[in-house]
Amino acid sequence: MTSIVSELRDLPAISAYLKRYQIIRGRTESLIAPLSPEDMVVQSMPDASPAKWHIAHTTWFFETFVLAENVVDYQPFDSSFGYLFNSYYETIGPRHPRPQRGLMTRPTVDKVLDYRKHVDEHMHTLLASELPDGTAELIELGLAHEEQHQELLLMDILHLFSTSSLKPTYDRSWSADLSGRRGQFKPLNGGLTEIGHQGEGFAFDNEGPRHTTYLQSFEISDRLVTNGEWLDFMADGGYSKASLWLSDGWAVVQQNGWDAPLYWQHDNQGWRQMTLRGLETIDPTAPVISISYYEAAAFAQWADARLPTEAEWEAAAEAGLLEQVDNVAWQWTQSAYTAYPGFRTAESAVGEYNGKFMINVMVLRGGASITSPGHARSTYRNFFGPEKRWMFSGLRLARDARQPGAVDNHNSEFGRDVVCGLSTLVKSLPSKYFYDAAGSELFEAICETAEYYPTRAETSLLTQIAQQIADAIPEGAALVEFGSGASEKTRLLLDAAPQVALYVPIDISANALEKAAARLKKQYTQLKIVPLIDDFSRALQLPAEATGHTCVGFFPGSTIGNFTHEQAVRFLRSAHVLLGNEAHFIVGVDLVKDADVLIAAYDDAEGVTARFNKNLLTRINRELDGDFNIEDFDHLALWNDTENRMEMHLVSRREQVVKVAGHTYHFSDGERLHTENSHKFTIDSFTKLAAHAGWSVSGYWVSETPHVALFNLKA
Ligand code: AVI
Repeated sequence: MTSIVSELRDLPAISAYLKRYQIIRGRTESLIAPLSPEDMVVQSMPDASPAKWHIAHTTWFFETFVLAENVVDYQPFDSSFGYLFNSYYETIGPRHPRPQRGLMTRPTVDKVLDYRKHVDEHMHTLLASELPDGTAELIELGLAHEEQHQELLLMDILHLFSTSSLKPTYDRSWSADLSGRRGQFKPLNGGLTEIGHQGEGFAFDNEGPRHTTYLQSFEISDRLVTNGEWLDFMADGGYSKASLWLSDGWAVVQQNGWDAPLYWQHDNQGWRQMTLRGLETIDPTAPVISISYYEAAAFAQWADARLPTEAEWEAAAEAGLLEQVDNVAWQWTQSAYTAYPGFRTAESAVGEYNGKFMINVMVLRGGASITSPGHARSTYRNFFGPEKRWMFSGLRLARDARQPGAVDNHNSEFGRDVVCGLSTLVKSLPSKYFYDAAGSELFEAICETAEYYPTRAETSLLTQIAQQIADAIPEGAALVEFGSGASEKTRLLLDAAPQVALYVPIDISANALEKAAARLKKQYTQLKIVPLIDDFSRALQLPAEATGHTCVGFFPGSTIGNFTHEQAVRFLRSAHVLLGNEAHFIVGVDLVKDADVLIAAYDDAEGVTARFNKNLLTRINRELDGDFNIEDFDHLALWNDTENRMEMHLVSRREQVVKVAGHTYHFSDGERLHTENSHKFTIDSFTKLAAHAGWSVSGYWVSETPHVALFNLKA
């Protein structure tokens, strides 16, 4: 009775096992499908094995550790195969020398395929019945082993094909590595943490025991280092500066003449990379692969960072901080491969599987695009010698957490926007960051230059029409100014409209607001002033004092031109919500005009605008640990006829590498960093833009030449 119940319970599990066995073994066979028999025999270097050897060795594993031990009277398929296909098991006996696996023209590929069939048939029979004690674990190990060899097979084929002048394609449709943005550092607090495998599911012996370990607070990049970053490292002489390298690594670089990752080659088409799809142009946004530990460590040194320890990596992966965890490349850690506390090797032959390699190799974590589906885990410990690089091996950076009290702007909005803006193919920075204290002063100096007409033209227009605007302002209204700064132009309106009861200046600078309010209070004693410290483009709520007042918005200075069209519409819409349905909105815009006038206004002869533009780099150097050499960039102002806008750029005077917030950026000679757009409008184009945001134009005034306009919008 008991045995029937247990049979009923075990049957589905057994057949599920069989299914898994068939799927995994079948995948090996599908991986060799694109290969010719010749491809399968050759060994391109001592570390690599011929595909034929892989498919025979994995079969030998099942035959030796499962069938021979558990099937009564099992007859090996061929008694000579034990010597040929034993990899490194001393307990099992002597073996064919590893560097000479490529000399095995016999057995033929066909014979090895027959060997697989023979072993599979016996395995099917075994898996269709109740498994003897301890066998399930060995079969699991055999399947995980087969998956490891699937990855090795692909690595070895790529190496073999890379040595061919024909640069053969393994599989044209093999998926490309995921490209995307550069990494950002994510902080993780230190303390006691647990790492290692425990409990349910298969894991290799080296992944346990789970144990407690202590981590200092650290930061880890959420993505892998890209080819573009690697090119920056190379352009900065990364392979020729001994100071970046570990002593052993430097010796290896010199012995081998390394100057790029393993599969990169430089020719008249630039840098290209051998892949399973054949030779391809390098995608600068895809992660770098096929680098040694030595190269990864040198890169980290160059980037003012380090490699994570394996405990840091595992803690960050389990905290969900990481992208590109196991689908691109194994990631070098700075951890030597050693036993976890409490680790013991098994006494049987499979005890040789992992433990005896715990010397002179480094741990890689994650998983690669060529790793078999479902094979990797967050506790998985891959390991290779520090000089090896035919794996799909990449890196993610880590660094120590900043000391308490140290200023860290890197993760501020400014830091994130700068990192993001410098990481894209066309580099750009938001112009709102011009206005630190020095930038604000420089902007005021720009307004004084002979060429920069907008401020003068708008002030004189406002002087002329202030009364007309004032006449439309109802008694007791609230004047709400966006980006009020020193509130200079406001006086013109306040003088003409004494009926304004409340003034709400909105500005991000508390200091500017305080100073302006103090000055205005002296002159307009009846006026209530309630400043609002906020990014004016994002302000969501007026102060309570404004409740019940009809609002008049005021946004002079043609600053709306510094927004993209989408941002301008969004801003006008939210101003609509903020000011209410009875509101008027006075908006200043600069009008399209002769390009010469425009270009002169943004490239004044005294160079004030150039200093204003370059001050952004000074700010980055100061606040984000940048090392921009300001002299290495030229100011450029140009008219973009298609977009109707003035553009400011900083143009790299030479090929150079710049570090910002722990990241490294490459600038080619003449490459531009786009720093500002200043859109110019026609009456018609601005009317349409306002209409998009729910405002109609109740009137507008145009200044004398050079023309600027003031619009009176009605909600
Ligand atoms: C603040 N903003 C309207 C100015 C403009 O004209 O776009 C900023 C500026 N940039 C260069 N010169 C002045």
